[in-house]
Amino acid sequence: MARIEIVPSILSADFTCIEREVKKAQDAGADRIHCDVMDGNFVPNITFGPLMVEAVRRCVTIPLDVHLMIINPMKYVNDFCNAGASILIVHAEVCDVPLIAATIRKNNVRPAVSVNPDKPTSLFLPYLNTVDQVLIMTVFAGFGGQKFIPEMLDKIGEVRNEAARRNLTIDIEVDGGINDKTAEECAGRGANVFVAGSYIFGHGDYEARIGAIRTAAGRGRERLGHEI
Ligand code: DX5
Ligand code: ZN
Repeated sequence: MARIEIVPSILSADFTCIEREVKKAQDAGADRIHCDVMDGNFVPNITFGPLMVEAVRRCVTIPLDVHLMIINPMKYVNDFCNAGASILIVHAEVCDVPLIAATIRKNNVRPAVSVNPDKPTSLFLPYLNTVDQVLIMTVFAGFGGQKFIPEMLDKIGEVRNEAARRNLTIDIEVDGGINDKTAEECAGRGANVFVAGSYIFGHGDYEARIGAIRTAAGRGRERLGHEI
């Protein structure tokens, strides 16, 4: 049974006290911490690199989900693995999926693949057996606080069906505009990992928000009606 996991994204955290923020998220029941790496090329925004990942790694014990929104991710795989990534997410638009997945695995890190909302699943579906997780972007990569794109629900279903058809156990993670409503819809199509930035960090009570997503995902899972 694919475990429901809630993953706060530090993009919306208070950067003046990142240690306090991620510890608070961990204590509130987060299953992983999501780190959004942006280079100003693959996406218009710039965030941080391996030094921040390494700092977060020293603050919490839960796994780190590192989302690389950068061109030429292959060049930085070792750096982010050494910085303490547990799951390294790369965009299929800018890499050779089986090659980079094998390199990530060699570092004892779990490979994951993503694409932007306007890109087809055919960019990674042929290599689904090489990754542990697919990240379905439910907004365009680059900024927190955007509105969920409902058309992505079909994409989630498509990947979940293909995984079932091929008997693959994979996590399907969703990222962008996730809250207590959209999480239910995504879980209803087969997503089991939920990234949320502004919904969690933009609110004082992290435990309440994480709990609300978990409850919503549980409701969606019931609607799914079959085991994933
Ligand atoms: C966007 C990032 C997301 C972002 C989500 O490019 O990949 O992880 O933090 O933010 P919210 O949850 O606010 O949409
Ligand atoms: Zn992300």
